[in-house]
Amino acid sequence: MKLKYLLWTVFGVAAISIGLYPLIYYLVDMHGKGLFSSKSAELLADRIWHAAFYMHITFGGIAMLIGWTQFSRNIRNTRLNLHRALGKIYVFSVMLSSIAGFYIAQFASGGIISRVGFSFLAISWFFSVTKAYATILKKHFKQHENWMIRNYALTFAAVTLRIYLPFCTQLMHWDFITSYLAISWLCWVPNLIIAEIIISKRALIPAFVTGSKTTDYFQD
Ligand code: HEM
Repeated sequence: MKLKYLLWTVFGVAAISIGLYPLIYYLVDMHGKGLFSSKSAELLADRIWHAAFYMHITFGGIAMLIGWTQFSRNIRNTRLNLHRALGKIYVFSVMLSSIAGFYIAQFASGGIISRVGFSFLAISWFFSVTKAYATILKKHFKQHENWMIRNYALTFAAVTLRIYLPFCTQLMHWDFITSYLAISWLCWVPNLIIAEIIISKRALIPAFVTGSKTTDYFQD
């Protein structure tokens, strides 16, 4: 019981703190700081890149803030309309953020390896949210949950990226670009593997045990 609340707390705190992180780009003058410090003046002056960047971080942040609450069985059972409304905002946010993310991925620092890594992440993010939405429209509850687990594991790449980056640069003493190239893949491929493990474990829990229409892994 205590472990469950601890896991929920870690999950929620990570999602809220990284979900709010994009606010820094609105509240602080980021000129020459953060990601902007590694970009050319030409790219920073490009209005399409700028618009795509802000679209990506704004809707990515919204998806991050909403997504974790959707796994609460308590909310689904007691406030289904809230789950539906937040779910639609989540799907819309992921679609916009992933399209913009794919665009800015073409200019990612580090070159072809990070560009391809982030591009595949964006494509997988868009594809999995589309599958999650299509399956719930057909009332395929279990498939919907499975696709949402995969999709949120990809959303969580924004969290794992910010854990691995200081790990690689500060603890492993790799330079920024080497770390970034590795992390453009490491931030999401292991997340997807963990999602598949969770999904396969859920398949072993019969629905009558959980009392759900489907099996539930994240319960509260
Ligand atoms: C899961 C799919 C995602 C993809 C494909 C993706 C892609 C990218 C790319 C390509 C960049 C620019 C990297 C560069 O130019 O070197 C970036 C930066 C950024 N992304 Fe995402 N991202 C994703 C998820 C998210 C989420 C969920 C958030 C919300 C918290 C987010 C917030 C940001 C922020 C704030 C930056 C600026 C970099 C920084 O200041 O650390 N991203 N993303």
